[in-house]
Amino acid sequence: MKSILICIETLCGRISPAGFGSKEDRRHLERAREQTDASLLGAGSLRAGDPEFRTFEGKLPVNRLRAIVTRSGNIPATKSIFRTGPRPLIFTKFSIRDMLNERFGERAEVIGVPETDSGMLCLKTILDNLEQRGVESCLIEGGGLLNYEAFKQGVVTELLLTIAPKIIGKQTETCLVSGPTALGTPFIHLELLSCRMNARSGELFLHYKILDRR
Ligand SMILES: NC(=O)c1ccc[n+]([C@@H]2O[C@H](COP(=O)([O-])OP(=O)(O)OC[C@H]3O[C@@H](n4cnc5c(N)ncnc54)[C@H](OP(=O)(O)O)[C@@H]3O)[C@@H](O)[C@H]2O)c1
Repeated sequence: MKSILICIETLCGRISPAGFGSKEDRRHLERAREQTDASLLGAGSLRAGDPEFRTFEGKLPVNRLRAIVTRSGNIPATKSIFRTGPRPLIFTKFSIRDMLNERFGERAEVIGVPETDSGMLCLKTILDNLEQRGVESCLIEGGGLLNYEAFKQGVVTELLLTIAPKIIGKQTETCLVSGPTALGTPFIHLELLSCRMNARSGELFLHYKILDRR
């Protein structure tokens, strides 16, 4: 299955604080959602914002899946995703699955997933689960830790990256991908498939294919 990581970053590689993309970038994200069957989001991004994964003109396609990954189970039940659109999926570790199931009831489907050696959830299992539900392409929508794990676990096939003409320089803001060790040896190599510039917003829209970890 195709799993496409999508993100907007500053020129200094930061992806937060949220909301620095233009209308063009918003449309770019909506189009990517329209062309994929599911979105996957880290619980940190859900806690930081209120994403619903809408497409053009605020639509929420009934057959498009929306999934959250959490290890802690710290998922605010008050978020809009639990009130609007199709029932979201929550992937979590087995030990807290029943507790979350009880908490969310009909508002979400909770699925237990095995952990990797480093105690993170196995993203391949999550993508396989989505595939069994008919998903052929999944959009990984961040944030930084989910991005890092997705590259580390080797499940990203493509990257859609918007570079905004902004610099923040604050080291506590989240990076596109950031974790304790290099993801390749030391790099992961990518091939540029396309590059589009938007003159009005000054943003660059890059599309990469993930190659190998030489
Ligand atoms: N610019 C952009 O395009 C963009 C897009 C998305 C988000 N963001 C920004 O990114 C920031 C959030 O990033 P973040 O790195 O703090 O958080 P994140 O990646 O959104 O979420 C991290 C959390 O997700 C869960 N998680 C992710 N992968 C997991 C795995 N393999 N196994 C188990 N749990 C996993 C864990 O949840 P628990 O903590 O519940 O265990 C983890 O702490 C926000 O400021 C948001 O606005 C920017």
